[in-house]
Amino acid sequence: MTEVKLDDIVSLAKRRGFIYQGSDVYGGLSGTWDYGPLGVQLKRNIMNLWWKHFVDDREDMYAVDAAILMNQKVWQASGHVDTFVDPLCEDTVNHRRYRTDHILKDKGISPDGMTMEQMDAAIAENGIKSPDGNPLSESRTFNMMFKTNVGATFDENSISYLRPETAQGIFTNFKNVVDTFYPDLPFGIAQQGKAFRNEISPRDFVFRSREFEQMEIEYFVNPEHWQEAFDELLASTHDFLRKLGLPDEKVHELDVPAEDRAHYSKKTIDIEFDFPIGKEELLGIAYRTDFDLGNIQRVSGKSMEYTIKGTNDKFVPHVIEPSFGVERALMAVLSTAYREDEVNGEKRTYLALPEHLAPVRYAVSPLLKNKPELVEKAREVYKALKAKYGNVMWDDNGNIGKRYRRQDEIGTPHCVVIDFQTLEDDTVTIRDRDTTEQKRVDGKSL
Ligand code: GAP
Repeated sequence: MTEVKLDDIVSLAKRRGFIYQGSDVYGGLSGTWDYGPLGVQLKRNIMNLWWKHFVDDREDMYAVDAAILMNQKVWQASGHVDTFVDPLCEDTVNHRRYRTDHILKDKGISPDGMTMEQMDAAIAENGIKSPDGNPLSESRTFNMMFKTNVGATFDENSISYLRPETAQGIFTNFKNVVDTFYPDLPFGIAQQGKAFRNEISPRDFVFRSREFEQMEIEYFVNPEHWQEAFDELLASTHDFLRKLGLPDEKVHELDVPAEDRAHYSKKTIDIEFDFPIGKEELLGIAYRTDFDLGNIQRVSGKSMEYTIKGTNDKFVPHVIEPSFGVERALMAVLSTAYREDEVNGEKRTYLALPEHLAPVRYAVSPLLKNKPELVEKAREVYKALKAKYGNVMWDDNGNIGKRYRRQDEIGTPHCVVIDFQTLEDDTVTIRDRDTTEQKRVDGKSL
């Protein structure tokens, strides 16, 4: 197996048009990333696979697409205004700011379970300085929500936030979905969309960004049955990760201790993955109890109770929440697929992406682009494949060898070449990305 470094992934992603630095032309904007033509397709394939697995293939899932800007009461009731904070310390000389837990982690000290005061004490005891060698300030809390104002009046009432999780757009629509669809418990509401966090130190490529995408489910249950639902969604999550092509041995479960769980969670299993940056959180599954619906009920004064059909049995449902980050899934997929080998004495880089995730499924080329009869035939094959699969690329740049190398790097499983024999018998050459083997097959069989 190739040992993958983060720099390899970053450089391939930029070189081949997967992911660029956000606002690159103006020197960038830290923590933001733009997806290029291949990145968009890969991301969409991952999101569509998730949607199929968790929404389309189930009978108990509903979907919403809520507004990103929400009434500020949402974030007061959810606890985010008061508790969605990270510990921040400052270089006392140049005033650069850092996450205190990251400073400790970078020195090999685990901040897990430490209070902010304990982190400061660990910094003092170990004589830890800022990355520039200067003393660090005491830590303070920093709220990660991006604040904005809605409308033409800038006052306390116009404050809103870019949502830091998609979840609240689901909770606030719980009653709407119940009243319009009358689903039986248990049922889930799923949503995919952007989330924003003013991370103190965005880092590790798209792993920790300020703008990213989430795929979340709030699964509403009778509190007596929360554990069954938790176990079922955990098992289904592992199935999904296999569909992404992630090897089981790189996927780990962490039962998050109480002191490290989010303020709303009674149990959390983080799924960690062996990324090139080490073992880190890929996604989380949390038992959020009735924390959110209970808070909405309290603050809005509207009942969030669910009545079991045909009975007077009413209660506020409890919630299991599988929460996925798209960027981390994409990083896991890319780092799993990245390979280096040697072909005919030359170093080759390729992405062994599963066919259903590859941004380009087939690349079609004429053997020689100055032979109109070959180009015409190749266009015919290209159009037929494109009508069938959609993500098919026309590639007549450079010689065949260069085309293969380029397609290998973007993870195209099949390269189809049209040559003079195609004109006689409709057979084409098809080359396999992973083995580099070439076969002649009937062009119509593809
Ligand atoms: N609604 C629950 C929630 O948002 P979280 O653990 O804060 O929980 C869920 O986030 C997932 O979102 C994470 O497991 C990760 O995949 C992704 N995520 C969180 N912060 C991120 C960031 N700054 N950049 C990229 N992905 C992030």
